[in-house]
This record gives sequence, C-alpha cells and structure tokens, in this order.
Amino acid sequence: MDASNLRHLFLFLTLAALASTISAHNITDILAGFPEYSSFNHYLTETKLADDINTRTTITVLALNNGAMDALAGKHPLSVIKSALSLLVLLDYYDPTKLHQISNGSVLSTTLYQTTGNAPGNLGFVNITDLKGGKVGFGSAAPGSKLDSSFSKSVKQVPYNISVVEITAPIIAPGVLSAPAPSASDVNITALLEKAGAKTFAGLLVSSGVLKTYLAAADKGLTIFAPNDEAFKAKGVPDLTKLTSAEMVSLLQYHASAGYNPSGSLKTSKDPISTLASNGAGKYDLTVSSSGDSVVLHTGVDSSRVAETILDATPLVIFTVDNVLLPQELFGKAPSPAPAGEPVSAPSPAPVLAPSPVEAPSPLAASPPAPPMSPEGAPSEGPAPAGSEDSTADKKKSAGHVSAPALFTVLVTVFASVVCSFFMA
Ligand SMILES: *[C@@H]1O[C@H](CO)[C@@H](O)[C@H](O)[C@H]1NC(C)=O
Ligand SMILES: *[C@@H]1O[C@H](CO)[C@@H](O)[C@H](O)[C@H]1NC(C)=O
Ligand SMILES: *[C@@H]1O[C@H](CO)[C@@H](O)[C@H](O)[C@H]1NC(C)=O
Ligand SMILES: *[C@@H]1O[C@H](CO)[C@@H](O)[C@H](O)[C@H]1NC(C)=O
Ligand SMILES: *[C@@H]1O[C@H](CO)[C@@H](O)[C@H](O)[C@H]1NC(C)=O
Repeated sequence: MDASNLRHLFLFLTLAALASTISAHNITDILAGFPEYSSFNHYLTETKLADDINTRTTITVLALNNGAMDALAGKHPLSVIKSALSLLVLLDYYDPTKLHQISNGSVLSTTLYQTTGNAPGNLGFVNITDLKGGKVGFGSAAPGSKLDSSFSKSVKQVPYNISVVEITAPIIAPGVLSAPAPSASDVNITALLEKAGAKTFAGLLVSSGVLKTYLAAADKGLTIFAPNDEAFKAKGVPDLTKLTSAEMVSLLQYHASAGYNPSGSLKTSKDPISTLASNGAGKYDLTVSSSGDSVVLHTGVDSSRVAETILDATPLVIFTVDNVLLPQELFGKAPSPAPAGEPVSAPSPAPVLAPSPVEAPSPLAASPPAPPMSPEGAPSEGPAPAGSEDSTADKKKSAGHVSAPALFTVLVTVFASVVCSFFMA
C-alpha cells in the first residue's frame, strides 16, 4: 500500500470515526463489563448522570463498588444519591499515574456537582491529595472536611476522554446527605415559574387546570418546558385567546413531558419525546437537536432553544424556553384554529405548514429558522412537505447551512492530514 492509499484510508477512517461519535463514550457500556459496579452503574442511569457523563470529555469517574454504593443508596432518596454521585464525576482527566503525581501533593478538582448550581462556595470541588506510601486520598474541598475516601484501583481509561477508577467510599460534601428530597408536592411550581419570568405560562396553567395534570404526573417524573413571558408577546405567536379550552389544555400539556429529562438527557435523546398531550403514537411529539451546550426543541411548526434550568430536583426538572412550542396538531395545517395570517395571499399550497417564514406572512413568522437537524431527528419533523413545497422554502432553509458542513469537512481534512503526516513521519 503506497502513501497515497494509506492517506485515503486514514481519511476515511477518521471521517467514519467522527461520524459515528456524537458522544465519544458510553459509561453504561464501559461499566457493564464490571459486575462489581453494577449498582453504581444502575444509579448513574437512574439519576440520568450517565447521559451527562456521555456528553463530556476529559473527565474522571470515581466508581463505587456494590458494597459502597448500596450503603449510600440504601439510606437516601434519589435526589440525594444524584448529588452524591455528581461529586464523583471530576471535570478533568486523572488516570492512576496522574493521581500519583499530583504536583505539590494536593489539588482541587471541579466536579459535575459544581455545574448544578446547588453548590455554594467550593462544595462542588474535590480535594485530591497524594498521601505518603502511594495512597491517594479524596475528600470534599469544603473547609474542615476529611479525606475520607481513597483510590483503590484502576477500572478503565480512554485517554484523554474518560478515566474510570475505583475509590473506597463516597465523597461527602457538607449538607449533601441531609438535603431534603424535594418531592413535587413540596415544590410550588407556579411560584418558581413566576420567579423565573414565566408568569403568563404559570397563569395559564392555573386558569386551565393543567397545573393539576402536571402535579399528578410530577412524582413519577416530569420535565416542564416553560415559555418565558416575552415568548407569548413575540410577533407571530398565534392569538391564543382564539383557542378552545380543549385546545388550550393540549397546548399546555404539550409543554411538559412525563419522565425526568435533565439537559444531559435531552442532549443524548435520539427519539422524539412524547409530551403530556401525546395520546397516540407520534402525536404531539417533540424532537430534540443539540450542538455543544445548546439544546433546541422542534415541534414541526416552530422550534425553541431550551434556555435555563430553573429546577433540577429528581424526578422533576423545569426549563424555560424562548418560544411558545406550537404543536403540529394545533398549528400545523390550515384551517388552523388560530388566525392563520393572510393565507389567501400566499403562493404556497399549504402556507401554514411551511417550515420557513420566507414565503407567507404566516402566524409563525417570528419563529427562528430551525437549526440543522440531526439525521435521526429529521424524519419526525412533521409530515414531509409534498411536491412543490420542497422548492423555495427548503432551498432557502438549506442554503443557510452550507457553511457548517463545509467548515466541518475542511476541519476534518486538515486534521486528517496533520495526523497522516505525523503518522508517516
Ligand atoms: C475522544 O473524544 C473525541 C471527541 O468527542 C472523539 O472524537 C474521540 O474518538 C474520542 N477518543 C476515543 C479514543 O474514544
Ligand atoms: C449505552 O450503552 C447501553 C448499554 O450497552 C445502551 O443501552 C445505551 O443505549 C447506550 N447509550 C447510548 C447513548 O448510546
Ligand atoms: C508548590 O509549592 C511551592 C512551595 O511549597 C509553591 O511555591 C508553589 O507555588 C506551589 N505550586 C503550585 C502549583 O501550587
Ligand atoms: C486537601 O486536604 C488536605 C487534608 O485536609 C489539606 O491539608 C490540603 O491543604 C487540602 N488541599 C487543598 C488544595 O485544599
Ligand atoms: C404558590 O405560589 C403562589 C404565588 O406565586 C401562591 O399564590 C400559591 O398560593 C402558592 N401555592 C401554595 C400551595 O403554596
């Protein structure tokens, strides 16, 4: 095989690898090979921390064996277990060698817990100290904490993406274990929403009675997407007062999904997610796309960025979203129950269905254009526009996306060439 063939092969392999690795590793899969961590693995899945771990690179997972994990899990609710386990995910790569060569003997590492917003001060940091005799101790970085856990063995390393090592005991930050389990019935959802700038949405939930549906679902797991007040005032939002009460109920139920889906889980979700309004297969679904840290929901009519997490307390998570989510079933086809702009003046055969605001002054004109869909997400993005419709709208739509794949190709090529020359030097 000559150099040029090898180069092509290399480029192909690099492309193939990049194409198949949206998330680089799968912690569930890694730990599945080690029955002694089956309980730890189970709780990473149950708390959805596994999804968060899979979307990150350059991390270290401090695994507990079944004995240590069950001792922790036996006494605490899932929300507390989640906090305790988030302290065991270090946002830096430490393999056993690096752990034994900590400069100056001691270092503080950020953990996933620090990213939750529940960690005041340095509660979300872990102190790693190289003790005498090759022992490595772990403890909370909070003042006065002891190093009550230590490295016991290596489990698996994928340099420099993820390192999994076993430690002897959980790392306990002050207050973590005693935090009350926030049961959905203790949380005042309307008060939280109002505080987060989603007063209109909160008011609609109360006046329509849908809040009761939310509360009934919340104990088994609920994810709420609350449009902020600006979203309701945005130009192009259909006049919601024209909806019948049944339609209003569906619209509000559409803004929540059964099940606990924090942002890490949204990022990794490949299938459309059903909402509380979904009563049949494929009805009132949402699809999700993500790039980097941003997550976008697509209804088939419009799309919205997931803005902020205002509550993440297993099994309830509440996000704000930038736009009112307009389900296909209510706003997707003419005649729409909402005023459909001036559909008569539109040249397109089905103006309201068109995903692009370009053609007609449809009621959705203010929705931002959908970002590039992932291949999995694309087919479920509503019914395929028929015949002529794939002309202007879709071309306009795709025109904006040319730069991203092109840039991607350039980057991949440059990267592959660099790797090749290094490889063949
Ligand atoms: C590490 O992560 C990067 C980026 O996510 C990925 O492309 C690469 O394949 C991963 N490396 C290994 C050895 O899995
Ligand atoms: C990770 O692996 C587990 C078990 O092998 C599998 O069930 C799960 O779907 C995988 N997750 C992803 C995001 O691929
Ligand atoms: C390591 O310790 C020395 C003296 O004890 C100090 O001068 C130096 O700043 C420390 N380095 C780091 C990275 O903390
Ligand atoms: C880590 O903990 C040890 C023991 O409590 C302490 O001596 C050390 O200063 C701490 N390290 C850092 C970086 O705070
Ligand atoms: C929740 O908060 C709202 C104000 O935001 C208040 O009107 C309502 O009474 C509270 N509900 C409960 C059950 O405390």
